[in-house]
Amino acid sequence: MDQIVNVNEFQELAKRALPKMYYDYYSGGAEDQHTLKENVAAFTRIMFRPRVLVDVSKIDMSTSILGYPISAPIMIAPTGSHMFAHPEGETVTAKAAAACNTIMMVSCMSSCTLEEVASSCNAVRFLQLYVFERRDVTAKVVKRAEKAGYKAIVLTVDVPKLGRREADIKNKMIAPKLRNFEGLFSTQVKPSDGSGIEAFASRALDASLKWKDMEWLRSITKLPILIKGILTREDALKAVEAGVDGIVVSNHGARQLDYSPATITVVHVVKGRIPVLLDGGVRRGTDVFKALALGAQAVLIGRPVVYGLAAKGEDGVKKVIEMLKNEFELTMALSGCPTISDITRNHVRTEDERLK
Ligand code: FNR
Repeated sequence: MDQIVNVNEFQELAKRALPKMYYDYYSGGAEDQHTLKENVAAFTRIMFRPRVLVDVSKIDMSTSILGYPISAPIMIAPTGSHMFAHPEGETVTAKAAAACNTIMMVSCMSSCTLEEVASSCNAVRFLQLYVFERRDVTAKVVKRAEKAGYKAIVLTVDVPKLGRREADIKNKMIAPKLRNFEGLFSTQVKPSDGSGIEAFASRALDASLKWKDMEWLRSITKLPILIKGILTREDALKAVEAGVDGIVVSNHGARQLDYSPATITVVHVVKGRIPVLLDGGVRRGTDVFKALALGAQAVLIGRPVVYGLAAKGEDGVKKVIEMLKNEFELTMALSGCPTISDITRNHVRTEDERLK
């Protein structure tokens, strides 16, 4: 592990550790995978405007999200089926989140039940939710999350239908066991020609979900609600109008609509009336800094966490988060920002500001 010097190196290790079908599921994007490349590439087009002769002998990366303190603005994104990466699944990821003093968003498509994840450690957890055609099932899962001490609901809104992930279609990717729904409704899909995940999603997800339904969600829970999958100012405003407690600027790690913009190129349009989180392509501490400078309060990490889990279990996930934290701390120091609130829009320069 000592020889791993950056987060990207975990991808190759995960590739070696995993059966091809699972590696392809974790790493893949939709269709041409243009957005997949762009999510990372767009960060490389943003440069710094570092300030010097600032006392950076002490750096404080700590912040809080919805009132929950975290050691740095780097959280764990919801990703499904961690048992493909590790036999103990999300319970291991959650332990790493607790050790790193950060928040884990647990996917409702997890391999462990949400109660098992809750009892495995004391990490602050938010439950990521999809709305199913069976609203009663959705409501039951929300109630269980409340009972198990989850602190927020993260409603993912960019999957009315599953994006076309061609590797999963070719591999005839199996539909994972969805233990949260055992006994609630059938998650079995008939063997199909293509992706088993797609077959399940098209049968179970509620593609009719609309803004009006936010009232329904609000009526069934007192937990704060974040909406994940916002990419435009129009929808950010609607989210504010709908009274949600925060948004996640996300293109689902480029797994849904290909040619969606890279998230770092749109995060600034969502001027902060409510907390804004960002995910997609965050691979360096410098990326974290750029996201904050452009308006995010924190970032979420998707694939690198599952790669760390697949390659080295709990230690791998911890190492991913710690490496990002260390790089971010150094970036703050070299930019002249001793605290999170010192990071401003003026510390970065986008492509159209080259002469600034
Ligand atoms: C995801 N993502 C996701 N999002 C969500 O809301 N619910 C889910 O169950 C999943 N599942 C999932 C599985 C896998 C394998 C991946 C890679 C992604 C999307 C995820 O939360 C996040 O938006 C992206 O992963 C962020 O991009 P990076 O960090 O992977 O580039």
